[in-house]
Amino acid sequence: MQMVILLLDVLNLFLIGAVTLAWVLLWVFKRSFISASPCNKHCVPPGNSGFPLVGETLAFVRAYSGPYGVYDFVRTRHLKYGDCFRTEIFGKTHVFISRSKVAKSLLGSESLNFSKRYIKSIGELLGKESMLCSSHEHHAFLRHHVSNLFALDSFASFAEYFDELTVQILEEWKRKEHIVVFDEAMELTFRAICKMIMSLDDEEELKRLQHDIFLITEAMLSFPLRFPGTRFYKGLKARKRVMNALREMISSRRKNFENKRDFLQFLLATNQSEKKDEELLNDDQIVDNILTLIIAGQVTTASAITWMVRYLDEHAEVQDKLRMFSISICLNQEMQLGFKYKCSDITMAPGTLNEMQYASKVVKETLRMATVVSWFPREALKDCQIEEFQIKKGWIVNVDARGIHYDSTIYNDPTKFIPLRFDDDPKPYTFLAFGAGGRTCLGMNLAKIMMLVFLHRLVTTYRWEVTDKDWRQEKWAMFPRLRNGCPINVIAV
Ligand code: HEM
Repeated sequence: MQMVILLLDVLNLFLIGAVTLAWVLLWVFKRSFISASPCNKHCVPPGNSGFPLVGETLAFVRAYSGPYGVYDFVRTRHLKYGDCFRTEIFGKTHVFISRSKVAKSLLGSESLNFSKRYIKSIGELLGKESMLCSSHEHHAFLRHHVSNLFALDSFASFAEYFDELTVQILEEWKRKEHIVVFDEAMELTFRAICKMIMSLDDEEELKRLQHDIFLITEAMLSFPLRFPGTRFYKGLKARKRVMNALREMISSRRKNFENKRDFLQFLLATNQSEKKDEELLNDDQIVDNILTLIIAGQVTTASAITWMVRYLDEHAEVQDKLRMFSISICLNQEMQLGFKYKCSDITMAPGTLNEMQYASKVVKETLRMATVVSWFPREALKDCQIEEFQIKKGWIVNVDARGIHYDSTIYNDPTKFIPLRFDDDPKPYTFLAFGAGGRTCLGMNLAKIMMLVFLHRLVTTYRWEVTDKDWRQEKWAMFPRLRNGCPINVIAV
């Protein structure tokens, strides 16, 4: 009997060994076949499948916590395999492609072969009605309603309010010893967006909401563990508090008619109109999308503002030219009015913003170089072909916007900060800072206003020096940003 058991054990071991060996051989074969074969037509993109089961997840995670940010994972593979490559991350096949023609076909018409891809935990934190995570048909309905916030007449009052806030915050800098641009920009963008959406200016409420939004954003890249103490759990709890606060606000507005001129009031007024229920946003849709707007708008714009300050510190000649143009706008107004007045008295009307043509090029060049949203993921809904490459159902195809922005066949000297390269409009699908097609950033014009107003006020109020020139990026950041937040010293001009 013992002999039989021993034989069975040996047989078992032999079988396990054979299966493992076959698996390893298959993996080695796949690796060398995929990365070595030249592609003519109908082939899978080149790349490395990484290790069995985990693929290249560890390298991806390492890049997230490294000094150059997560995009370094994409950059190094782009250099090795070219402008289209394949990898395996978190059990999914990802393709990264940095060809503007492909960006057009994938984003332009919101191809029916692809749908927007988002991480499940992000979907849970933003809510199932969030426009960022919704399916094709539902997205069109939500976007149509939410885009009312971005009607032109609301921009004028937004610009004025953002300007007031900026002047106030820059005034405080005179008394501050330590200024960290990212922290200041986060405060500024948060307050401005909350004011525009729901007229929120109560200090206590703002502080509470800002803290909860911070917890939700922190949870977005965490492992979705629902145990007390984990980041994800804290994020979910914070979401619950934010939802409760927003619902309370809606119910109080319904009870006491308050004539506020903001996005929330606009939605509630529409709800009281004669439209049928299915044509209106319900409360779940309103609250999920208010949260989405705050989260999509705050960190992105604050990061872009920070990069702008950093690039201008490195390029004194651009900063001087900008200051000269900004001051000349004030002088022009003085001439028109016929009396002397200070630059800080100028009002930020849309007309004034239109005059800031050089500043607008500085903003675009900052957005190109910083590419705050580095790539746009789309999931293949069926097997299909992208140029010479075969794509399988379920693969995630990422339009590599940063790769396109740094393509030397599109932009000369792409690593140099040259605002005048935007003297001419970029060709379609070569400037993707705000995405393209049906999912183009809804807050694009708001973001541009914030960057322009901030820039104008900054250069006409101060000269600055970055006190820590470290270029390393923040670990585990959703969007690329400086780890030190860009600390500066200022001197009044
Ligand atoms: C410099 C600042 C900003 C940058 C670089 C930026 C970038 C982007 C990009 C690239 C997308 C498209 C992503 C994709 O196609 O997968 C997007 C979408 C979006 N952004 Fe922005 N954004 C900025 C500011 C804002 C602001 C201020 C708001 C609103 C307050 C906002 C709201 C949105 C929304 C709601 C979407 C989803 C649109 C949809 O799916 O239809 N963004 N943003």
